[in-house]
Amino acid sequence: MCGIFGIVTDRETALGPTLVEAGRRLSYRGYDSVGCATLRPDGTIDLRKDVGRIDEVAERLGFREMRGTRGIVQLRWATFGAPSQLNAQPHLDSDGDLVGAHNGNVVNNVELRAQFLAEGMTVRSTNDGETCVHAVERYVDRGYPMLEAIRHAYRDLQGDYAFVIGRVGEERLYAFKKGSGLVAGIADGAAVVSSDLPSILPLTRRVLRVEDGEIVVLEPGRVELRRVEDGSLVFREVETVTESMEEAQKGGYPHFMLKEIHEQPERARELLHLYDASPHVEAMVARMRAARNLYLVGCGTSYHACLLGAVYLARLAGRPAIPVLGPQFIPQCVPAVGPGDVGLFVSQSGETKDVLLALEAGVARGLEPLGLLNVIGSTLMYKSRVYLPLACGYEISVPATKTFLNQALAFLYLALRMGGHPTAFLQGLPDLLAETLRSAEPWVEGLVADLAGRDDLYCLGYGLTYPIALEGALKMKEVTYAHCEGMLSTEFKHGPLSAVHDGYPVLFVCGPEDVPRIVSGVNEVTCRGGRAIAIGEEDDRLRANVHDLLPLPRAGPLLNPLLAVVPLQLLAYKLSVARGIDPDFPRNLSKTLTVD
Ligand code: AGP
Repeated sequence: MCGIFGIVTDRETALGPTLVEAGRRLSYRGYDSVGCATLRPDGTIDLRKDVGRIDEVAERLGFREMRGTRGIVQLRWATFGAPSQLNAQPHLDSDGDLVGAHNGNVVNNVELRAQFLAEGMTVRSTNDGETCVHAVERYVDRGYPMLEAIRHAYRDLQGDYAFVIGRVGEERLYAFKKGSGLVAGIADGAAVVSSDLPSILPLTRRVLRVEDGEIVVLEPGRVELRRVEDGSLVFREVETVTESMEEAQKGGYPHFMLKEIHEQPERARELLHLYDASPHVEAMVARMRAARNLYLVGCGTSYHACLLGAVYLARLAGRPAIPVLGPQFIPQCVPAVGPGDVGLFVSQSGETKDVLLALEAGVARGLEPLGLLNVIGSTLMYKSRVYLPLACGYEISVPATKTFLNQALAFLYLALRMGGHPTAFLQGLPDLLAETLRSAEPWVEGLVADLAGRDDLYCLGYGLTYPIALEGALKMKEVTYAHCEGMLSTEFKHGPLSAVHDGYPVLFVCGPEDVPRIVSGVNEVTCRGGRAIAIGEEDDRLRANVHDLLPLPRAGPLLNPLLAVVPLQLLAYKLSVARGIDPDFPRNLSKTLTVD
């Protein structure tokens, strides 16, 4: 939640453009408000911040003109304190000689704020990032040097966060973290620190991943890690990152979401290529096969992939699995978890706190954690006994698209391998996806005029397409701000059918084996005046009963769900644009949810 970036250089320079560029790369993590601070050699701090997105605020407040030897930029997604100029970060300490910004949550910030006020400090906002600054100020005021002050502050701050701070009159920045990700980079005459890698890579490929309980000391051209515990030096090899940065550009598409939807055939091909050659697939399958109980844990889109995975595993490998939302895993499953149980934790970011907390609670009772994740180097990767990557490259747009496709494909692959079935037929998937994209575009375009004004929609599926209906509905509400509910088609008649009236749209996602059942559901809607729109393989029975049908390429029941999600993603995207919304950054959301 939120994003931070800090830079130290060896001479006073125009840091503004670098801070803006880093901030733009971090803006998927939060875009309620944004702020920049530069520290200048004359001992002054230039702090500019406000509510709004980075491009607009940067223009209005002149971020690009900011100069200094050290700089910090922060992108905020509000948790503690409403989005406001005062709550925007970075924050100053009481006297204005410390400046810092955080991401994540400091959960004891209310108690600490009361203490700081009682100690005579000036607290200006209700944001927990300011708490971090005062936590350091408290010990600086008592005469501790910065490193010692930070070591004490670390013990006072509870929660999961990453924090960067600078002090006037020094040449350094300091950063530390608990729970959240933090990466440092070393460049010629400069050093940087950030919540993530993409904001660092344009400046350097020489990075150090920071662990909990470590303090990063940044000096021009040099990064030092010190232990909070005793201040001693940590020796860690500098890593050279080879990942391409092209992923992080829009490549001619108007939005990342559209680009990422169109990347799916290629990403699926890469995943299959990788899994065919990877020894980790067998290691994963062996553990899942031997599990006493097998839990599939995720949130949001990743949870929908777990739901689909459970159907694949039962059908293809006879392996029962329990799909469960991260936070619900703790009350519902953990009391019954014990040695021999296995949890497969699924997360694009690998940083979702709801998922990591579930993992920790399971591990504490003897569960073996496995991971399915997109971000290499994420916390989930390090916490998993065995993990498989999703091989999607960067997914920048807040709505997950290509990572869902590859999560679903990974489950299908694992289920086939576990059941001893051949996987060769999966090689046809990339072409089928490309064909689906081609046929879906004009069909979706034809629906947009009718549906763009609607604030209410249902999306129904059954069996293998039930998780797809849920995922389609999530995409729709995420980027259109309309209410769209996903549901098992057979459940519709148990209550929601009462919503149907003249022209009321209901989307049906139909697997080739489920046509009779879906046709019943369709008729329950159409005979009450509702409008039935279906996505499924060409079928006379379906076509005769619905108002609109998008015929998917014939691919059979196993691949059908992977194709069916594509038109739903495209529909959500086009409705979003038609409603004047930026689908890459829907209001109130963040790509990486590292908070409770
Ligand atoms: C999907 O479009 C959403 N952005 C959201 O539901 C997301 O899938 C969820 O927050 C989980 O994220 P993760 O996969 O990074 O753990």
